[in-house]
Amino acid sequence: METVHVAVDPAFEVSPVSRHLFGSFVEHLGRGVYTGIFEPSHESADADGMRTDVLALVKELGVTVIRYPGGNFVSGYRWEDGIGPVENRPTRLDLAWHSTEPNTFGLDEYMRWAASAQVDTVMAVNLGTRDVPEALDILEYCNIASGTTLSDARRVNGANSPYGITLWCLGNEMDGPWQIGARSAREYGRMASRAAKAMRMLDPRVQLVVCGSSGSHMPTFGTWERTVLEETYDDVDYISAHAYYAETDGDLGSFLASAVDMDYFIDSVVATSDEVGVTKKSAKKIMISFDEWNVWYQDRAPSAPPSGDNWPIAPALLEDRYTVADAVVVGSLLISLLRHSDRVRLACLAQLVNAIAPIVTEPGGRAWRQTIFHPFALTARYARGVVLQAPVLGPGYTTDKYGDVALVDAVATHDSDNREVAVFLVNRSQDGPTRVELELGAELRGARIVEALHYSSPDPYWVATADDPDGVLPRPFAPAVTDTMLSVELPPVCWAMIRISYR
Ligand code: AHR
Repeated sequence: METVHVAVDPAFEVSPVSRHLFGSFVEHLGRGVYTGIFEPSHESADADGMRTDVLALVKELGVTVIRYPGGNFVSGYRWEDGIGPVENRPTRLDLAWHSTEPNTFGLDEYMRWAASAQVDTVMAVNLGTRDVPEALDILEYCNIASGTTLSDARRVNGANSPYGITLWCLGNEMDGPWQIGARSAREYGRMASRAAKAMRMLDPRVQLVVCGSSGSHMPTFGTWERTVLEETYDDVDYISAHAYYAETDGDLGSFLASAVDMDYFIDSVVATSDEVGVTKKSAKKIMISFDEWNVWYQDRAPSAPPSGDNWPIAPALLEDRYTVADAVVVGSLLISLLRHSDRVRLACLAQLVNAIAPIVTEPGGRAWRQTIFHPFALTARYARGVVLQAPVLGPGYTTDKYGDVALVDAVATHDSDNREVAVFLVNRSQDGPTRVELELGAELRGARIVEALHYSSPDPYWVATADDPDGVLPRPFAPAVTDTMLSVELPPVCWAMIRISYR
């Protein structure tokens, strides 16, 4: 059996854990909203038509912030279609997902739902078919107390107090040829700068996310970030990053190493952004909003939008069913995000319900957890305090996509108030278990195990279903403990969490 050594030491601080790393995303896409979070005829629906069975799962998932309403959808969306009396709201065609948008769920319904779910909001404005005035209109509607047409309209619509939304995305994936209103980096950068300046004049508290590349595979990756930041550096707080991973051609080894690509992506955006900062002689650092990330099988049938004359309401779209291996990858991507928490301060698992989601529903029926739910929920619950680098020393393996990669990856968090450390690990081996020896720094000597859980299965392709949602759950295991070391045998294709406390 291979052995790797992981150093766990409170001296290896990265930065405080940003609670906004555990975000998610609700887009008007497929059944994300309709028959997802919102289904007035469902037996669990509350007075607002929200499914309370789904709300309970969202709370259990531990999501802290949610991006809304898109995604590609936002680039054709008229936010005011979704406010006011439902019977007066227009029905529109959604060009992004070739669907019909009934607008029976809109901004005010979303904000009531977000309050029930106890999550913050990242609101996206449409810079695809729209421009600065409409961005100002939605900001006025949301954040101005009263005394203007739009703020008073919000009060008439039931929200007496302003929503006070601080996080705003300036459009979505404006580099993508599929995006309604896609632009060149220079055009978009100038437009985003105008929008940002005006939005800050209306509400100086806003924190603004400018669009970075929609993937590191984009031909303009790097030059897009540089050009956009040349135009917006002084106006924005974050630049976005999006990444989706999938197992292709049966290459599980590369797939399990997807976090290597995420590390590269983040490091590249930080380098590009800091270079722009240097040329501007600016002390300011731009943070990364990794506001779309997940496993997504884009080439499979569920991802194909309807076509022709067929414009259904809430079709089943992007309804990927996730395996244990997918969950291990999701856990490892969270390790990458945590490791970079000095620069990645906001992140959103895309998405939340039904469309590439940890939670699945049946219309009029059950709701259940997919495999990817588990590493997310445990990391969101126990990554507390400050992030610690957890350097790994040991063997690697060779992948087709990323060359030589580490067999085991790890990160830790240190909650000094409660004298607890949580270590998050992934074993990428497919061949057998790997022995992991956690070497404890001086402060942690004599630590005791609070909880040790791993998520794996003899069948890495096991999938949760409505009839068998819990066939594979995180299972407890018992590390061997000495004064200076914890030793564990992690099964192949495995994500794990070990919580320890010290005196
Ligand atoms: O999350 C699904 C889609 O992926 C989003 O709408 C878009 O922003 C991205 O391409």
